[in-house]
Amino acid sequence: MKAVTTTGWGLKARLTLTDRQAPTRLGAEDVLVQVHAASVNPKDWKLNYHAAVLATPLMVNRLPPFFGDDLAGVVIDRGSKVTDFEIGDAVYGMDMRPRTASLAEQARISQKRIAKKPQSLTFAEAASMPLAAQTALQGLRKGGGRPGSRVLIIGASGGVGTFAVQIAKALDMHVTGVCSGRNIDFVRGLGADATIDYTLGDYRQSAGEFDLVFDVTSYETPLTCSALLGKHGHFISTGGQGVSMFGTPVYRLLGKKAGTVVVESWREDLETLNAMVESGQLKPIIDSVYPLADSEAAYQRNRSGRCRGKVVIDLAGD
Ligand SMILES: NC(=O)c1ccc[n+]([C@@H]2O[C@H](COP(=O)([O-])OP(=O)(O)OC[C@H]3O[C@@H](n4cnc5c(N)ncnc54)[C@H](OP(=O)(O)O)[C@@H]3O)[C@@H](O)[C@H]2O)c1
Repeated sequence: MKAVTTTGWGLKARLTLTDRQAPTRLGAEDVLVQVHAASVNPKDWKLNYHAAVLATPLMVNRLPPFFGDDLAGVVIDRGSKVTDFEIGDAVYGMDMRPRTASLAEQARISQKRIAKKPQSLTFAEAASMPLAAQTALQGLRKGGGRPGSRVLIIGASGGVGTFAVQIAKALDMHVTGVCSGRNIDFVRGLGADATIDYTLGDYRQSAGEFDLVFDVTSYETPLTCSALLGKHGHFISTGGQGVSMFGTPVYRLLGKKAGTVVVESWREDLETLNAMVESGQLKPIIDSVYPLADSEAAYQRNRSGRCRGKVVIDLAGD
């Protein structure tokens, strides 16, 4: 089968299309999926980068040379204990071990990590969801978001942010989205009640207090956001940058409400998202679509940090 693999390491890693054997041995709870679409997340290239910077090429060499966590496709085989999915079912999900290896025509994935694809979504739209939308759902939940909560979403226009705004609104929260000026109307269109253009000045001192500050850029810490949090606000980060990775746990040790969301894929959460999709409250936003052979360009686009929604890899044209 056709699959993307990596050559080189750190930020010099390059993605190339190769031929390799399709997965053969299925675990009892695994299904084999004919992948119709996959999507791109910063985690893939950051994992290589952090391993290269923090450790040695040896550690990078231990990472499987396959990228891609999210997938949407059709079940073509299943393990002996798979009872909830039939061959021919359209499914979507992700399974990090540490990578699903979904930039390939076929991928193996546990039945616990997938759900039936919402009928109203294309495979490309469904593939954009598992990692980013579950990060948004699990982050809002971890931060205690509930109906009526005043939530500030920093990074509202990106992969995680576009889902976070819509999911928070679906859960009846009051949402303020932080984005650059070019994305203000776009974030309003996602349902945000208010927006802040971060390019106009340091809003962190003047924007008031929130019940939950959900920083999906990973640039902030509870300390940089202390005026936004007041005495009782909850800070949640996606933790993808060193400063938030180390700053947030330290703040928690001081007894403050702060945490980092580390996404996992669960069928129950995907089904919660399915219900939001089917009721018209949630719609994936696709920044751009690339064929499998252009995966390197897709990752370069993601690394630009300027994506509006998600970058998708299309393997089947449907
Ligand atoms: N811990 C986990 O489980 C987990 C899961 C998912 C993601 N993450 C991490 O979360 C981060 C975001 O992921 P993502 O997929 O959403 O990334 P992304 O799609 O690449 O984010 C791009 C967006 O960020 C916005 N942005 C850039 N600088 C900003 C700033 N200073 N303030 C507000 N918005 C800004 C950009 O808008 P403009 O162009 O308008 O600036 C763009 O729309 C990454 O670090 C990723 O590694 C962690």
